[in-house]
Amino acid sequence: YGTQSINERGHLAIAGVDTVDLAHTCGTPLIVYDIALFRERAKAFKETFKSMGIQSQVAYASKAFSSIAIYEIAQQEDLSLDVVSGGELFTAVAAGFPRERIHFHGNNKSYTELQHAFDEKIGCLVIDNFSEIEMVKEIAEMRKEKMNVLIRVTPGVKASTHDYITTGQEDSKFGFDLKNGQADEAFLQLFNHPYIGLLGMHCHIGSQIFESDAFRLAAEALMSKMISWHEMHNFVCPVLNLGGGFGIRYTDEDKPLEPSAYVKEMATIVLSMTRNYNYPVPEIWIEPGRSLIGDAGTTLYTVGSTKEVPGVRTYIAVDGGMSDNIRPALYGAKYTAVTANRMNEPQSNRVTIAGKCCESGDKLIEEAYIAKTTYGDILAITCTGAYGYSMASNYNRLPKPAIVFCENGEKQLVVRRETYEDVIRLDIPLQKVKWGEK
Ligand code: LLP
Repeated sequence: YGTQSINERGHLAIAGVDTVDLAHTCGTPLIVYDIALFRERAKAFKETFKSMGIQSQVAYASKAFSSIAIYEIAQQEDLSLDVVSGGELFTAVAAGFPRERIHFHGNNKSYTELQHAFDEKIGCLVIDNFSEIEMVKEIAEMRKEKMNVLIRVTPGVKASTHDYITTGQEDSKFGFDLKNGQADEAFLQLFNHPYIGLLGMHCHIGSQIFESDAFRLAAEALMSKMISWHEMHNFVCPVLNLGGGFGIRYTDEDKPLEPSAYVKEMATIVLSMTRNYNYPVPEIWIEPGRSLIGDAGTTLYTVGSTKEVPGVRTYIAVDGGMSDNIRPALYGAKYTAVTANRMNEPQSNRVTIAGKCCESGDKLIEEAYIAKTTYGDILAITCTGAYGYSMASNYNRLPKPAIVFCENGEKQLVVRRETYEDVIRLDIPLQKVKWGEK
């Protein structure tokens, strides 16, 4: 994967940095990002649009991994940013990210979060529902300030992925239904409001999707609706945002296309429909998270106890688990592991990699093939860059891992490891303060 290699010591190296040394210096669990790979993915998306002569914005869906440093890299790569909460917006602002390239999502943005968006004069709000329309209009009118918006719709496309992460089907908590008139109603409420700059439409059909058909159908459905608004109201949407969701390869069973192939598929149908209906080609926006950052991340763990269940399996336990990667327990997600300090030995020993949390379900990989691995070895689980740290918890009061960025043989700590002091920072011992006091 990416710039991973085996160095002269037989260790796994990421972007030229020895992971075993990193694990020993920074401790484990440790999340290591190959930043060159993130940059490469970003460039590939942008290049695809460029080669097709289409204006675009590629927004990094930062729910996949949000931190000040990654926002700085996203800015260097001229990406836009998809944020989904006041917290992500706050982080982006703290990173000095250009506000006009921030897009704010969410099915239940609070009044305070919407005001925050106005305060920061962000690029656009992706409006999800009728109560949000009312709140946005109210804030805009009160402040006499304009806000650009996209209307998020559910195109009625069911993509095959885990049920928890499909979002394009009609029965979804997200967006306005495209087929039952909700999207048209939202359009009518927004399109000629003096303080609303209606840019166009948005959809996101789900995550970790491999079928390009689903993306094409969604693009087609949105384009048709935009064309109908043009026919009925003479309104041209300058922007079409087709979301993210492009699947990546976690194990050899996964067979995704190149991320940009999905984009090409969607853009092709947009181009042909605009040509047929003589509709101006909209700017196409996408918002990939996983396909930008997923395979750039690797988690390093130190191996602890081993347990043999005779005739069944061997458990190898590591010093993290569902607290730093909930995906196997939550979605049955599969990963690949290697023994980072024994890369020249055959990675052919079948084991179950367990975490250290107090739950039987805390298994990171049910069936992993690694070198003969014992206490103190360093285990690397690859492709943990998306939805790992961002969904991490302090379950069992485990401190969250540290994060290191690597590029061209250089390394940099970008998130420090939590300490036990951090873990109890918000606790208030009994009777020290009266109710209502801070
Ligand atoms: N845009 C919107 C509106 C989204 O809701 C999402 C993801 C994305 C873009 C980025 O999708 P991506 O390119 O990363 O697939 N926690 C789950 C994934 C949840 C995805 C939520 N929305 C997981 O670990 O698989």
